[in-house]
Amino acid sequence: MRHIRIFDTTLRDGEQSPGASMNLSEKLEVATALSDMGVDVIEAGFPIASPGDFEAVRQIAMTVRGSTICGLARCNEKDIDRAWEALKVASSSRIHVFLATSAIHRQFKLRMTTDEIVERAIAGVKRAASYCDDVEFSPEDACRTEHDFLCRVVEAAIDAGATTINVPDTVGYATPGEVYDRFDMLRNRVPNIDKAILSTHCHDDLGMAVANSMAAVAAGAGQIECTINGIGERAGNAALEEIVMAIKTRQDYFHLTTGIDSKRLVPVSRLVSKTTGINVQRNKAIVGRNAFAHESGIHQDGMLKERSTYEIMSPEEVGFSKTDLVLGKHSGRAALADRARQLGFTLNGEQLQSVFDRFKVLADKKKEIYDGDIVALVQQQISGT
Ligand code: KIV
Ligand code: ZN
Repeated sequence: MRHIRIFDTTLRDGEQSPGASMNLSEKLEVATALSDMGVDVIEAGFPIASPGDFEAVRQIAMTVRGSTICGLARCNEKDIDRAWEALKVASSSRIHVFLATSAIHRQFKLRMTTDEIVERAIAGVKRAASYCDDVEFSPEDACRTEHDFLCRVVEAAIDAGATTINVPDTVGYATPGEVYDRFDMLRNRVPNIDKAILSTHCHDDLGMAVANSMAAVAAGAGQIECTINGIGERAGNAALEEIVMAIKTRQDYFHLTTGIDSKRLVPVSRLVSKTTGINVQRNKAIVGRNAFAHESGIHQDGMLKERSTYEIMSPEEVGFSKTDLVLGKHSGRAALADRARQLGFTLNGEQLQSVFDRFKVLADKKKEIYDGDIVALVQQQISGT
């Protein structure tokens, strides 16, 4: 089993979701929860971005133990110095330096030549390495960067002291096959690549962030960057909970492990949702309200006989208390009898059929049938009304 490092960027890229900003005490609470859950690296913020971001990174660096605390910096002295100023109190710290490398970014955003980019990357990584022996370098928009140039920048960054090379799909454009090929290409063509850990950082613009992250680790990446509930710029980042459970549930296929305590996924998801004000959609994989809910009669019957018929993970494993057999118009007799039993009523065949007939009439009028409705239906049957 190969261990994959989980790098959480909820407090940095996640906070870049419009409307997601968090105050200092909220950030501290989230960082503590991430560390308690077993996150290897917490990207606590972008210290140069604002005095508040600086202070949040500094306080997290001062108080949170057990995870490496990371701060983001553009590839210039001011950013890197400010990042270090915030991080230096941490027991384990990392400076994350980034610089765009794709032709589009070089031409329209940076207006720099390839030689100037390489020179700037080397200078930035060297400055970060003069403060800290854990330096991550990200060639921004790496997945749209020409292979030859990407190899050149990555090799130079490692020579300058980068210990992690992150390969971001900044605009969520890549497909899993392309991501696999790009990581494979880097491992084959960059001569000093074994001196650094390769990392993946995928955005979800085409809904492929998690699949792309898994393709990267299949091709040798040792770190995945992700956020709780997949929050982040535009359509968001790869969702931490989905990655962790894909690795755990399909260990037979991926042969990977993480240090995450999966039972904390739902509580941490709820904390981030409450803190940012960004709701988790009902059908969200792993942590959504419907992720372990079954309404159809056929599925409920299967579940009552053997849960592995329709569940590939248990709700308890991710921090839910139980499977939810939702009673609605698609439900069958078995689930109704089971719920009535839980509510203290044992119905014979005839009683069950009569309650079931009334239940179906009611279910056509309501989205969901609650326990109070079942009690009323059973009592009507018993009293003959
Ligand atoms: O998406 C991106 O390219 C980033 C970098 C700063 C790593 O968030
Ligand atoms: Zn990003």
